[in-house]
Amino acid sequence: MAPIISVQNLTKTYSNGFEALKGINLDVEKGEILALLGPNGAGKTTLISIICGIANPSGGQVLVAGHDVVKDFRATRSMIGLVPQELTTDQFETVFNTVSFSRGLHGKKANPAHIEKVLRALSLWDKKDNMLRQLSGGMKRRVLIAKALSHEPEILFLDEPTAGVDVTLRKDMWNVVEQLRASGVTIILTTHYIEEAEEIADRVGVINGGQLLLVEDKAALMAKLGRKQLILDLTEPLSRLPDCFAGNGLTLEADGCRLTYDFDADNEQESIATLLTRLAENNIHFKDLSTRQSSLEDIFVALVGAAK
Ligand SMILES: Nc1ncnc2c1ncn2[C@@H]1O[C@H](COP(=O)(O)OP(=O)(O)OP(=O)(O)O)[C@@H](O)[C@H]1O
Ligand SMILES: [Mg+2]
Repeated sequence: MAPIISVQNLTKTYSNGFEALKGINLDVEKGEILALLGPNGAGKTTLISIICGIANPSGGQVLVAGHDVVKDFRATRSMIGLVPQELTTDQFETVFNTVSFSRGLHGKKANPAHIEKVLRALSLWDKKDNMLRQLSGGMKRRVLIAKALSHEPEILFLDEPTAGVDVTLRKDMWNVVEQLRASGVTIILTTHYIEEAEEIADRVGVINGGQLLLVEDKAALMAKLGRKQLILDLTEPLSRLPDCFAGNGLTLEADGCRLTYDFDADNEQESIATLLTRLAENNIHFKDLSTRQSSLEDIFVALVGAAK
């Protein structure tokens, strides 16, 4: 099946000469959830803005459901919901009207029942008659999400949707995302909360300095780059590691009370069993054993650090 979004050799140079995107290639499949990770200034918002048709590319092409986002702006924009990073809302309008109006802007017929459903899902229903200026920051962010969902988009972009919001909104939001995923909506989100990406994404893209360093299935990425460690707390401190253990991934911590072992996830059973037997043979005993696995955050930090 053709990808629902196809980004080809996309570049963006801002009017001051700054090169924010340096040749991005990315395909997004219908119905998937893609998380874009990257440090401040990496180019995430720039990329999203171009796909949504609200910023112009300098080179390359973006197709949404086969339509060019520049030449066919109306067709592509109506398929897309965008929750922008920055709060920009009309302060003197009510919540209900703002969200309802947004639906109209995308050329859809009024549908109060749909607007009610969206507002209820985001716990905004009891605020529907409030003016936006009467809402807290987190509630305004909920309104942005409601606006993006007002016209029942097939593709939803969430640009830092949970920055600075409380636990309840996060939960509401991830519930909404789950429901949307179930109904086949394609979702692209950026976040600085890596555990969010780890929790929810099917694929993860890492962007840095205007380049896409990788895009990969989340589970495959974790398996490939994830590191596993076995930690053994020893009964008696060791002054040094016997020579027969040199060079096999085993390290004695400075205080001599702990051994750490980096192991390969593929054949862990065998190698750990062998190691434990050899330790016993060398009269090294432990009182506690635990394992640690590197998280997506460790992987991200390592990748972005290496690219500098
Ligand atoms: N209008 C503009 N003119 C010139 N440079 C810009 C403009 N907008 C963004 N930039 C620059 O382009 C780069 C990418 O910005 P962008 O907003 O896409 O980053 P981001 O990955 O979304 O970062 P953040 O995590 O902080 O939201 C930054 O260096 C930024 O300063
Ligand atoms: Mg941004």
